[in-house]
Amino acid sequence: MVRPIIAGNWKMHKTVAEAIAFVAQLRSAFPTAPDREVIVAPPFTALGAAAEAVRGSFIRLSAQNLHEAEKGAYTGEISGAMLREAGCTHVIVGHSERRTLFGEGNDRINRKLLAALGVGLRPIFCVGESLGEREAGRREEVVAGQLKEGLNNLTADDIGSLIIAYEPVWAIGTGKTATPDQAEEVHRSIREWIARLYGPKRAADLAILYGGSVTPKNIAELMAQPDIDGALVGGASLEVDSFVRIIGY
Ligand code: 13P
Repeated sequence: MVRPIIAGNWKMHKTVAEAIAFVAQLRSAFPTAPDREVIVAPPFTALGAAAEAVRGSFIRLSAQNLHEAEKGAYTGEISGAMLREAGCTHVIVGHSERRTLFGEGNDRINRKLLAALGVGLRPIFCVGESLGEREAGRREEVVAGQLKEGLNNLTADDIGSLIIAYEPVWAIGTGKTATPDQAEEVHRSIREWIARLYGPKRAADLAILYGGSVTPKNIAELMAQPDIDGALVGGASLEVDSFVRIIGY
């Protein structure tokens, strides 16, 4: 049984001041730490201030992306070591918005995962099919390919540091959540795939999050599924009230 993880991906939202205020309100909503791992992923500019704000609390800090190189002439990019220094413990890798809007393919995502693990960041590795792929009956093949190529050269120990997020692209920001059964089917197949490659223990210990229009209303039925270990929340993580309700589902 994996400890539930609730992660908020803020995407390109919140200034430094807004991030500080959000964290302060989130802390005060839980005078004692909730029985969940709670992660927030602010934009790069707010990471330093958010790291100060979460210090000594139950909240962990994630970045939304990293560059795969250690350092170099990569204008506009941020390395894993820089994220560690800023106070991050986690980093989202391979989000569908990075894949579709910024052209990140499985090979690049694989290098980012290795770079994150190399500096001790826990990657939240996102996979998921588009509506067209699902309708064409290619869901399994697409997700398996993302796993196979994305996890190339990762060791069993690396899998111990990994979190996977299944985010069907058609459910992101659309208000269309996958049904608990649809999500569970994919989560189970991801766990089986990990078990075949890395053994049953790694598979059982792996946290697999669901993402895509998660709200305070649908979180409980999603979390009731045996292979759903948490949620990666976009829109509903931006308001303290709804994020608190999701954490306390
Ligand atoms: P929404 O919760 O807004 O659908 O976003 C999901 C997501 O992309 C989280 O990474």
